Amino acid sequence: MEFSWKTQVFILLQGLSCAFGQAWDRSLYATSPPVYPSPNTAGLGGWEDALSQANGFLSQLTLDEKVQIVTGTPGPCTGNIGPIARLGFSGLCLQDGPLAIRQATYASVFPAGLTAAASWDKGLIYQRGVYLGEEFRGKGAHIALMPVAGTLGRSATGGRNWEGFSPDPYLTGIGMDLTIRAVQSTGVQTTSKHVVGNEQETQRNPSTIFPDNTTASNIAGPPPGVGGITIEAVSSNIDDRTMHEVYLWPFADSVHAGTTSIMCSYNRINASYGCENSKILNGILKDELGFQGYVMSDWGATHSGVSSVLAGLDMTMPGGIGFTSDVPSYWGANLTGAIQNGSVPEARLDDMVRRVMTPYFYLGQDSGFPPVDPSSTDASIFTLFAPPDTWRYDFNLTSPSNVDVRGNHAHLIRELGAAGTVLLKNVNNALPLRNPQTIGVFGNDAGDFLNGPYSLSLSFGGDYEFQTQAVGGGSGTGRFTYVIPPLDAIKARANHASPDGALVQYILNNTLILQPDGLSSLLPYPPEVCLVFTKTFATEGFDRTTLELGWNGTEVVNTIARTCNNTIVITHSGGLNILPFADNPNVTAILAAHFPGQESGNSIVDVLYGDVNPSGKLPYTIARNASDYNAPVTNSTELLTTRDPNAWQADFTEGLMIDYRHFDMANITPQYEFGFGLSYTTFDIGNISVTALTDGPVSALPPPAVIAPGGNPTLWDGLYRVTVVVSNTGDVGGATVAQLYLDMGSGAPEGTPVRVLRGFEKVSVQPGESTEVAFVLTRREISYWDIVAQNWRIPSGEMTVSVGLSSRDLRQEAPLTVL
Ligand SMILES: *[C@@H]1O[C@H](CO)[C@@H](O)[C@H](O)[C@H]1NC(C)=O
Ligand SMILES: *[C@@H]1O[C@H](CO)[C@@H](O)[C@H](O)[C@H]1NC(C)=O
Ligand SMILES: *[C@@H]1O[C@H](CO)[C@@H](O)[C@H](O)[C@H]1NC(C)=O
Ligand SMILES: *[C@@H]1O[C@H](CO)[C@@H](O)[C@H](O)[C@H]1NC(C)=O
Ligand SMILES: *[C@@H]1O[C@H](CO)[C@@H](O)[C@H](O)[C@H]1NC(C)=O
Ligand SMILES: *[C@@H]1O[C@H](CO)[C@@H](O)[C@H](O)[C@H]1NC(C)=O
Ligand SMILES: *[C@@H]1O[C@H](CO)[C@@H](O)[C@H](O)[C@H]1NC(C)=O
Ligand SMILES: *[C@@H]1O[C@H](CO)[C@@H](O)[C@H](O)[C@H]1NC(C)=O
Ligand SMILES: *[C@@H]1O[C@H](CO)[C@@H](O)[C@H](O)[C@H]1NC(C)=O
Ligand SMILES: *[C@@H]1O[C@H](CO)[C@@H](O)[C@H](O)[C@H]1NC(C)=O
Ligand SMILES: *[C@@H]1O[C@H](CO)[C@@H](O)[C@H](O)[C@H]1NC(C)=O
Ligand SMILES: *[C@@H]1O[C@H](CO)[C@@H](O)[C@H](O)[C@H]1NC(C)=O
Repeated sequence: MEFSWKTQVFILLQGLSCAFGQAWDRSLYATSPPVYPSPNTAGLGGWEDALSQANGFLSQLTLDEKVQIVTGTPGPCTGNIGPIARLGFSGLCLQDGPLAIRQATYASVFPAGLTAAASWDKGLIYQRGVYLGEEFRGKGAHIALMPVAGTLGRSATGGRNWEGFSPDPYLTGIGMDLTIRAVQSTGVQTTSKHVVGNEQETQRNPSTIFPDNTTASNIAGPPPGVGGITIEAVSSNIDDRTMHEVYLWPFADSVHAGTTSIMCSYNRINASYGCENSKILNGILKDELGFQGYVMSDWGATHSGVSSVLAGLDMTMPGGIGFTSDVPSYWGANLTGAIQNGSVPEARLDDMVRRVMTPYFYLGQDSGFPPVDPSSTDASIFTLFAPPDTWRYDFNLTSPSNVDVRGNHAHLIRELGAAGTVLLKNVNNALPLRNPQTIGVFGNDAGDFLNGPYSLSLSFGGDYEFQTQAVGGGSGTGRFTYVIPPLDAIKARANHASPDGALVQYILNNTLILQPDGLSSLLPYPPEVCLVFTKTFATEGFDRTTLELGWNGTEVVNTIARTCNNTIVITHSGGLNILPFADNPNVTAILAAHFPGQESGNSIVDVLYGDVNPSGKLPYTIARNASDYNAPVTNSTELLTTRDPNAWQADFTEGLMIDYRHFDMANITPQYEFGFGLSYTTFDIGNISVTALTDGPVSALPPPAVIAPGGNPTLWDGLYRVTVVVSNTGDVGGATVAQLYLDMGSGAPEGTPVRVLRGFEKVSVQPGESTEVAFVLTRREISYWDIVAQNWRIPSGEMTVSVGLSSRDLRQEAPLTVL
């Protein structure tokens, strides 16, 4: 079908309604343009041989079996595709999630994506992916439901901001690329999720309101009760430029890296559900980005049969309309019927099967892939809805149970936990600790698990007051085999049980600490150093309601600092926190330790004692005041009072200006800026130089080329090389992150950020030494999305490249003029 919208009226309207400067016209977001038919896979990007194998497989399938390959079904894993014994196909096992194989025993719990991003360490991020992949594989999981680039982090309070990497799309894009390549190097498929605009948990799914004002989420099946009104899921209304430069950017990296599948989102985009939005699935993913794999629904995010199939959805999960079974389903027998009556062409179903099976053959999963660990069934919450005796298919669960897949991964977890810890403040030589003889440990985050190793519950942490917060909740959590609590690690490092050791005393009850005389049981009080462990829970299903530390953490810090003038604060958090005590002189050091995973205590002790010199940098901005952040979660219309099915509208009016781009544009001084992080040594950057990597003129638009996974392949051509020299100007060895920012200058349209991250490299340098760091700028990285040309365009005129130690500590700059 031909659609003139692409080049005509639509674009003009959109140009006029530009998010910047003009009033936001919501009517432009009331529909998403139709893009049909769904493009077929051609096995581009090296999948050609696997595609022929998939074709061979397809040719042996009956119509029912083709439908089976694309419709989820109850089974041992988070998601399952049923086996076909006749063809020696044992089915597909899909498992959560981004920081661990969640439905498992004897698996590692890794640092969260946010922690990995805070390390800015490409080598460690890649190694994390390899180890994660090995664990999924060892448990027989063909498909890892990760990594995450949406939620990106538009809103500071987003409940899932920790699952992915950073609100900066460039940093997240690197995290996606490395993780996908790493996981897939182990023969396990990745599912890059959630496309797109999945930026809040609040009203992420449709809900029904009944006449008595009770409500039910529609996620787990048709709601009970009668006479209800369905309020549709929030619509993320995103203009075309913001889509490309912010929310889609890391997914373009994912497709470029060869991600085998992509999960579509719960929310709507421009009023059309993520899993039936043809502009996103057919138009952007499969056509513009040349995605060759399959689009999978989020769990319960499919809201139609024929429409979702034609819009480009290739697999529905968990299969049924609810979580209980695969009947009723919009797909399954309904899809068979839709093929038989001609509403879906069988060629479309064939393409869906090819898209699902090509990655399976490409990664060699048809031979020698480990069997599904039968204990997965016991660890599954889905068996509550669909116990094994109700399963439609006979999964082979005869292999040994409780396989231990942890290997030696703990060393990387410990190292990355430390590398993802950001030293925000360090005065009076507070850190590293110099063998203190009296140590106070405070706060409800310091101790061992009291309420169990598994915070899947979406109860917003209510049950988890007393235990270290090493990960968040929801489908992105992990089931701990063990955790090292900070208190245990400190005791061990301080050698507290020995006559030569330090006196380590502690109070882990925040309520007690806040009582008058709550600290009086510690002698001597104050100790030489007071370590306050604070935590902030975050989970899928809810957005945070505050940026303050959880469980009165700020009051706890202030209370201790009133008498202890060497108070060191550690935050374990699923996102950013306001730190009102940052300027308190008695708070001598602050460490943002994020969600470090199972080696939590060891990771923080390594930093506290200087065994590891901190080198983490903030992957987000910490404001002085919560009101400094823009782009809040949409919660303006109360579910109980609205009767408007379209009441939930998240207008992304801020365009490209999220996180540091907003602070820079609005000229707001943050407490700690994006990219900031201290070390026990100091660094400088010098000798910037920029060289062109191509001879002759560079065109403003990319030369036309056959689309490859990721889009026009020339977008990834390296056009300039930037080098600097990083020197360690302090007394001890350490690592820092040289960060390259680009200011596109006056040739870029209105609404362009002051500067954007376009390169980073972590380097380790000995005192008095220096090392050269090189960055390659690709065409995409020096272009903006031109909404009229529908292409990436290099701005004319002078741009500026800066390299520094944070987004506001720029040490070197050089002009860059292409056109
Ligand atoms: C959403 O609507 C805006 C404004 O009309 C348009 O720029 C954008 O391309 C649309 N995106 C989708 C996915 O429909
Ligand atoms: C339900 O809520 C609406 C809007 O707040 C209110 O007008 C109505 O009286 C409520 N109905 C019941 C049965 O409470
Ligand atoms: C087909 O889909 C409809 C909803 O559109 C559902 O009510 C019905 O139960 C489905 N049939 C099967 C066999 O799943
Ligand atoms: C074809 O079958 C599907 C699935 O049962 C149904 O939703 C659709 O309405 C049918 N279309 C026609 C034209 O009969
Ligand atoms: C079940 O899996 C085991 C390996 O775990 C294999 O040896 C056996 O042949 C399989 N059985 C069937 C019926 O496929
Ligand atoms: C936090 O403080 C509030 C009062 O400000 C109190 O109601 C609440 O119980 C406190 N929570 C804890 C865990 O101490
Ligand atoms: C924490 O301290 C408060 C105040 O002393 C007390 O009421 C509460 O029982 C304590 N909690 C536990 C788990 O001991
Ligand atoms: C949204 O509003 C409701 C009702 O006021 C409130 O209970 C909820 O906490 C709010 N959610 C967020 C994330 O602010
Ligand atoms: C800092 O600690 C000293 C005790 O060493 C105390 O007198 C002072 O009030 C404290 N300051 C703050 C801001 O708590
Ligand atoms: C900090 O507190 C210690 C012990 O209470 C005290 O000896 C020292 O003088 C204080 N230092 C400052 C700068 O107030
Ligand atoms: C934070 O901002 C709010 C609203 O602008 C203001 O009322 C408040 O005083 C500010 N707080 C601080 C600590 O600056
Ligand atoms: C930086 O450049 C200057 C001038 O070219 C040169 O003398 C110096 O050695 C360079 N410094 C480093 C650390 O490479």
